[in-house]
Amino acid sequence: MSAGRLPCAILGAGGYIGQQFARLLADHPAFAPPRLIGRDRGRRRTLEDAWVLAEEPPADLARRPIEPATPARLAAQGIRVVFSALPSGTAGPIETELARRGIAVFSNAADHRLDPGVPLLVPEVNADHLALAGPPRAGRGLLVTNPNCSTTGLVLALAPIVPALRPRAVHVTTFQALSGAGYPGVPSLAIVDNVVPYIPEEETKIAQESVRLLGRRRGRTVVDAPFPVLASCARVATRDGHLEAVTVEAGRRASLDELERAWAGFDPLAGRPLPTAPHPPVERHPGVDRPQPLRDRWAGRPDRARGMAAVVGRVRWDPPYLRFFVLTHNAVRGGAGGSVLNAELAAERGRLGSGRE
Ligand SMILES: NC(=O)c1ccc[n+]([C@@H]2O[C@H](COP(=O)([O-])OP(=O)(O)OC[C@H]3O[C@@H](n4cnc5c(N)ncnc54)[C@H](OP(=O)(O)O)[C@@H]3O)[C@@H](O)[C@H]2O)c1
Repeated sequence: MSAGRLPCAILGAGGYIGQQFARLLADHPAFAPPRLIGRDRGRRRTLEDAWVLAEEPPADLARRPIEPATPARLAAQGIRVVFSALPSGTAGPIETELARRGIAVFSNAADHRLDPGVPLLVPEVNADHLALAGPPRAGRGLLVTNPNCSTTGLVLALAPIVPALRPRAVHVTTFQALSGAGYPGVPSLAIVDNVVPYIPEEETKIAQESVRLLGRRRGRTVVDAPFPVLASCARVATRDGHLEAVTVEAGRRASLDELERAWAGFDPLAGRPLPTAPHPPVERHPGVDRPQPLRDRWAGRPDRARGMAAVVGRVRWDPPYLRFFVLTHNAVRGGAGGSVLNAELAAERGRLGSGRE
């Protein structure tokens, strides 16, 4: 980590992911307390006014205003790192402009995820893809994305076992929490007493992003993983935590013991100075009825990494089919926490320089 804390800002600070960013960045060792950026609503609004999370807002940031600011203004004010929680569509041109002005952008939005030259990262899975951004150059910014909230949990669970199974195909059915749609999200009368078997664009995102994340980097390009990921996505009436039922059709007969050892031994960031990294990143729950959103969404150790671990359970191996469930906190591991971890990785690799508050 760099010596001084880097000046940073959150875009879309009043939204669900923006508030998670505020929680995670309030006392971060590498990033100074963030500036909070939002749309011009024609009246003063603080983080506390916008707050909708179940956890309390961070005391140091609660009364900070959420204000509009252009990329030019943020660059002129010395902001070095931007965490973007803008809606997809809105995010694209703003993030491009920020990077053009020398700012490092860590985005949750879908707009740039599949762009050549933009790393799509889950650090435990494909940290080497950071090199897709090319060598650091003075004055040039950086654009790094994290995947769709369901994709993150899926690839965390798959990465340790893919070498042993050499999948022919992966099938996943998701049970996705309401907060995945942001705030205010899905109308209550559309979801109470209901399950909605459709989330716009989600199945395509999971298919495309998973094979890219599990793919192999060749120089400045990625060769996608050589198997299809077939997703069926449903919205359910839970608040946070996406549950996924996964079936891997294996191309190789590993033993169950080999698979369990692969999950248990998976901690590629162990010993590295990334404060938000969970150790281990995949927790294997032995319970017959776990993981559950209500009970397992905050998995992750140490304390700063709460909500950052994927929980795998209900493992069944009937060769060639491996079946299991995986759960992740969509707004933390699958959202803001994923971006913060990407920024920590970039800082560790010297991509953010050093800074002073
Ligand atoms: N929710 C999740 O679990 C999740 C997980 C992974 C990725 N994502 C992605 O993360 C992004 C944010 O999602 P979210 O769930 O936080 O959505 P959200 O709750 O709707 O929040 C979006 C925020 O962006 C603000 N905003 C809109 N246009 C803006 C602009 N031009 N300048 C500044 N602020 C602007 C909105 O302000 P107003 O309040 O004034 O409208 C709102 O506060 C999306 O791209 C989403 O796809 C979400």
